[in-house]
Order: sequence, then C-alpha cells, then structure tokens
Amino acid sequence: MQRSTMKAATLAFGLCLSFGGAMAQAEKTETEKGIDRYRELIADGNPAELWEMQGEELWKKKAGPKNASLEQCDLGLGPGVLKGAYAQLPRYFPDAGKVQDVEMRIAHCMKTLQGGEPKVTDYNKDDHKKVIALATYVVTQSKGMTLATPQAHPEEKHMFEVGKRAFFYRAGPMDYSCASCHQADGQRIRLQGLPNLTANVPAGKAATSWPAYRVSNSQLWPMQKRINDCYRLQRFPHPKFGSDVTVALSVYMAVNGNGVPSLAPTIKR
Ligand code: HEC
Repeated sequence: MQRSTMKAATLAFGLCLSFGGAMAQAEKTETEKGIDRYRELIADGNPAELWEMQGEELWKKKAGPKNASLEQCDLGLGPGVLKGAYAQLPRYFPDAGKVQDVEMRIAHCMKTLQGGEPKVTDYNKDDHKKVIALATYVVTQSKGMTLATPQAHPEEKHMFEVGKRAFFYRAGPMDYSCASCHQADGQRIRLQGLPNLTANVPAGKAATSWPAYRVSNSQLWPMQKRINDCYRLQRFPHPKFGSDVTVALSVYMAVNGNGVPSLAPTIKR
C-alpha cells in the first residue's frame, strides 16, 4: 500500500496525494469551505430533481413493444413498491437468477415489462439515459431510510466476496487497487476527500450517494459510472456498464455501510 501510494505521489496524473492521520484532523481549507457553502446554497435545489421528475414520468409512462409502464416493476419489496426498495439493493432476484443493483434491476424491468432489447449499456443511447433518470426517481423514495443490504441468499454472500476481492485486487501500471485510495481515513487527492470504503459510516454514505449531480461537469452520475471512473483513475480497463464486477463492488460497499441512512440523490464536486 505504502509503496503504491508513493508511486502515486510521484507519477500519478499530476495529482497531489497526501496521507496520514494528520490530514484527517486538518482544518478545512478556504476552498473546501467554499465548496461546503456552495453545497448548502444549492442543497434546496439539487439539479438531480430534474432527473427525478423525468424518472417519475418514465416510470409511469407506457412504452416499448408491450406498451406498458414500469409501475409493476419489482425492486425487491414486491411489484410497484418503491419506498425503501433502494435501501435494500443490490439484492438477489430469483426471476433474473442474479444479484442486481438499482440500475440493472430497472434495466431488467424495462426489458421484461416493456419488451424489446433496451440498449442500457451504451452511454450514448436514450435507454441508458432513461435508466439514470429512473434510478434517480427510485433512490429518492428511500432517502433517509436505513441501508439494509441483504446477505441472506448464497448469491448475495458470493457477490460480497467477489466485490471484496475486486476491491483489494491490485494490478495495472500503477499497481493500484480500490483500497489504495479508499482504505484509510483522512486520505485525499487535492480537494477531494477519499472515503474509507472499508469503514461503516463512510462506506454507507458513499454507497448511498449515487446518482449524484456532479457540479464539476454538470452531469448526473449513477454508481455504475462512479465505479467506472474510479477504474479509470486506477488505470484499469473500463468495465462495461452493468458488468458483474461493478455490481459486486456495490454489494461490498453497501454491506460495509449497512445501518447508515441513505442519502441519494446528492450533489458532488
Ligand atoms: C487513484 C485513486 C482512486 C482509486 C484507485 C479508486 N478511486 Fe474511488 N475515488 C477517487 C476519487 C478522487 C474520488 C472522489 C471524486 C470526486 O469527488 O470527484 C473517488 C470516489 C469514489 C466513490 C464515491 C465516494 C462518495 O463520497 O460518494 C466511490 C463509491 C468510489 N470512489 C469507489 C471506488 C472503487 C469501487 C474503486 C475500485 C474499483 C475505486 N474507487 C478506486 C479515487 C480513487
């Protein structure tokens, strides 16, 4: 770990990594305080609300070859039950025969209820954008509810173990793993705090922060996209949207964060 962080400091992307307990206690810089103030100012009007509204419309609108809405979609708590469903995802779905996160479950419902072959994995396709809007609508219905990611089904346990392994798997030109950046308290790259995703509260907050509106690029990113971009930071190949490794990582982070109130949708730098 230490060696890879040293390499990071010298080689990585021109970013300045600083480590150690001292930073954890360090006073917030003026810029950080500025960002906090900005967050407070716009907290009452998170632009994510626009996606949420669009998501609600898409949820209720009849569409696809079967001309059906998504209102009968089962997100784990029964058909049509939205409240609290996100706080118990990812989970195993017998009808899909696998563990699905919120995005993949919505994609599954689009396919089974509305028919056709929705192009959800292609970032430029409308179907993909629909999934993000729908996910924003779905997560909003669990805001403030306690994260309770299930681990009863063997597949759920299996995905946790896969996610854990993926989290600590070091490779690539920098010999990084997720843990290189997300295993210690008080780590940061420049302004961005790097949450310790192995610890309960920061893991819970991170696991339930997405979709988040990113002020830096005015985009709404779902968790899949966040993980994808971290793979880029890690100098790994981009996983395909919805690939099992991203779902497994979500399971790992969410289970670590169980008991923490769900935050999404949020605003990020
Ligand atoms: C080289 C460092 C680095 C590596 C390696 C890395 N990340 Fe990140 N990660 C970041 C940075 C930087 C941010 C914050 C970005 C921002 O605030 O704009 C972040 C943010 C996140 C967040 C959102 C946290 C929050 O507060 O909502 C999650 C979740 C996450 N990373 C997961 C992962 C996973 C899973 C992996 C391994 C596949 C990984 N990261 C690998 C640097 C890294």
